[in-house]
Amino acid sequence: MERYRSAAALIKARRPDKPVLALRPHAAGRAARWFAQNFDGDIAYAYKANSSVFLIGALYGAGIRHFDVASLPEIEDAATIPDAKLHFMHPVKARSAIRRAYELGVRSFSLDSEDELQKILEETAGPNGPSQDLQLFMRLAVPAINSLIPLENKFGISGEPATELLVKARQVAAKLGITFHVGSQTTTPDAYVMALKAVRDLIFHAGVVIDHVDVGGGFPSRYANSEPAPMEDFMKAIETGIETLPVRENVRLMCEPGRSLVSEAESVIVRVDARRGRHLYINDGGYGVLFDAAHLGFVFPSRLVSRELPEDAPMQAFELWGPTCDSIDHMPGPFLLPDCIQEGDYIEIGNVGAYGRALAGHFNGYGTYEEVILLDEPQMTMYPVEAEEASAESAKQA
Ligand SMILES: Cc1ncc(COP(=O)(O)O)c(C=O)c1O
Repeated sequence: MERYRSAAALIKARRPDKPVLALRPHAAGRAARWFAQNFDGDIAYAYKANSSVFLIGALYGAGIRHFDVASLPEIEDAATIPDAKLHFMHPVKARSAIRRAYELGVRSFSLDSEDELQKILEETAGPNGPSQDLQLFMRLAVPAINSLIPLENKFGISGEPATELLVKARQVAAKLGITFHVGSQTTTPDAYVMALKAVRDLIFHAGVVIDHVDVGGGFPSRYANSEPAPMEDFMKAIETGIETLPVRENVRLMCEPGRSLVSEAESVIVRVDARRGRHLYINDGGYGVLFDAAHLGFVFPSRLVSRELPEDAPMQAFELWGPTCDSIDHMPGPFLLPDCIQEGDYIEIGNVGAYGRALAGHFNGYGTYEEVILLDEPQMTMYPVEAEEASAESAKQA
């Protein structure tokens, strides 16, 4: 794949006709190393967030070996990663998917109902009876606090039924865990505090031994309209919450970050095909990488990359329109860009690495991208620049 110093360098070299997915694998590697240094447990990357081999390679290089997978196609893919430990964390699975996952070596499954427990037991049983090596995670419903995409309306169990299910799962699981998901892009740590309180109450009521606690995903990224608490605060809240749990010393922790590992590792570079006042018509949109900007109000950081302007060039708040023929394909933003922007200019829209590529479809003939690697830094980051990078940068400047 071609490599460029920056999106501006790419546009200086050539003016691509298709939108460009610009990868920064080093940003994914940095995020994974930050988690490895600050989270005392297994880090299971949520594969659905972005399955580009370049990013998976960077995560792998940073030590990631656990993967949260939610579908059979993901499992078939991720099972080819050497030493990968897969966790099938979708609480509702097809019987055929459970069977095939087990054949492929998956032993870790989540569930939030007795029906699902039964399904897992039936589909993983062998000629000599029930499987003896299941690692079962019961998914607890927890409140979403300051999250942009709540997940608990759909999955999770709570109250007395949760206690009963946990006791039943204990009787058949080689290893038993509790899992939850506080909702994606959770910007303050209190959701984890509340969730771990619910885990504590559940363990007290059920009175069973717990081998694993999985705090799920939900860790935030930075966007132009979302400034989360520092990532350290999330880790501190989790550490404090775990200390209060009635579990043994050797309880194993896990987390399932998706967004926070890959969001910064991809930008999309788009061309302005028309300007109408404060409205820019661009060549990617809500049916493409910018789904979250069209449908969930995300305002990704953006910058003009086809011209150099003085720092004090006047700025303007723009709305963006995608290339399809309907008005759903609209990213209201506002996206702050130079007021002089015009047809033929290129914009880098950053931090789209989580779910952007994964959600892009082919409606209206769109949805094919060029891909390049960029060597510079993302527009916004949650992570401190690492010592090695900092010394390379100062050597460059000396
Ligand atoms: C079970 C599970 N784990 C982890 C994730 C990743 O969440 P996030 O990208 O918010 O970290 C998801 C996202 O949908 C999920 O459903």
